[in-house]
Amino acid sequence: MKAVVITQPGGPEVLQVQDRPQPKPGANEVLIRVAAAGVNRPDVFQRKGNYPAPAGVPTDIPGMDIAGTVVEAGANVTRWQVGDKVCALVGGGGYAEYCVAPEGQCLPVPDNVSMIEAASLPETFFTVWTNVFDRGQLQPGESLLVHGGSSGIGVAAIQIAKAMGSKVYVTAGSDEKCAFCENLGADTAINYNKHNFKELIMNLTDGKGVNVILDMIGGDYTPDNLHCLAEEGRLVQINAVKGNTVQVDIALVMRKRLTITGSTLRSRDTFFKAAIAQNLEKHVWPLLASGMIQPVIYETFAAEQVAKAHELMESSRHMGKIMLSFE
Ligand SMILES: NC(=O)c1ccc[n+]([C@@H]2O[C@H](COP(=O)([O-])OP(=O)(O)OC[C@H]3O[C@@H](n4cnc5c(N)ncnc54)[C@H](OP(=O)(O)O)[C@@H]3O)[C@@H](O)[C@H]2O)c1
Repeated sequence: MKAVVITQPGGPEVLQVQDRPQPKPGANEVLIRVAAAGVNRPDVFQRKGNYPAPAGVPTDIPGMDIAGTVVEAGANVTRWQVGDKVCALVGGGGYAEYCVAPEGQCLPVPDNVSMIEAASLPETFFTVWTNVFDRGQLQPGESLLVHGGSSGIGVAAIQIAKAMGSKVYVTAGSDEKCAFCENLGADTAINYNKHNFKELIMNLTDGKGVNVILDMIGGDYTPDNLHCLAEEGRLVQINAVKGNTVQVDIALVMRKRLTITGSTLRSRDTFFKAAIAQNLEKHVWPLLASGMIQPVIYETFAAEQVAKAHELMESSRHMGKIMLSFE
């Protein structure tokens, strides 16, 4: 099969299409003929050698979300049959014509969603669900601040949180990105290059602060995030591109009874991921089918153009998801 391989740690040029043996599904897995794969920021970290794949998945083929057709089902698989159209969260190996996925990490492709669109969903939707709703416990009527509102993660967070009845604030790096986020449903988007998000959030919330923050920035954002949280607020960290080591005012955490938490999804076991899939199918898939939540594709590249896809991601010009097509 055709697969995109990280030939060595480095820039986008180290990604090359090679011939690889087709994987074989285990007893609880399906083999998927991949139509499309999502490009996610963690793929860039993996390509650079900073984010190794977990055990049990190919170490040099990136790709954590895919959509395609089931072509083989393992002996214990009960839900899926050959010919079913699914999208799946995988630990790696998604940038390839064929990929295996645990049965429980697959979801049906809604009729109104294309394969390219479906492949844009798993990594960001699983991440947003488990962090904003399971860890962050965002409730209807509460408010959420999402940093990086135009990212793949951001477009999922804005749409799901709005659909669940929350007020959503975001930050983004340009007026164009802010307008994009507000078009998607964000109540207010703050251009952090023009405005101090800490002051604006406090003004917008009448000095109360927000209930939950989904943050991928860390570093000097952390004290400002804690300042922006309401009493009993929850800060949920999914990355820290500005730095892992931060100074925290513990007295503020105590005074406002704050929770600081976070998680990484990739290393979690299949039971954990299958439980998220069940929640997504129950709460979010009907909203996709009704069109209330929509996949947001910025650009799709042929697999051979994968270096261009990674260059685009590193430029951060994109708004929404970057995709690879394997058809
Ligand atoms: N913990 C987990 O399980 C998990 C799972 C998936 C993803 N993530 C993390 O979530 C983040 C978003 O992922 P994604 O795939 O949605 O990425 P993405 O689409 O590339 O979005 C990242 C956005 O972050 C903003 N940003 C601000 N400062 C940045 C910096 N120093 N470097 C890079 N970006 C910066 C950029 O928007 P502006 O131009 O507006 O600043 C950029 O568009 C990544 O950091 C990723 O590692 C975590």
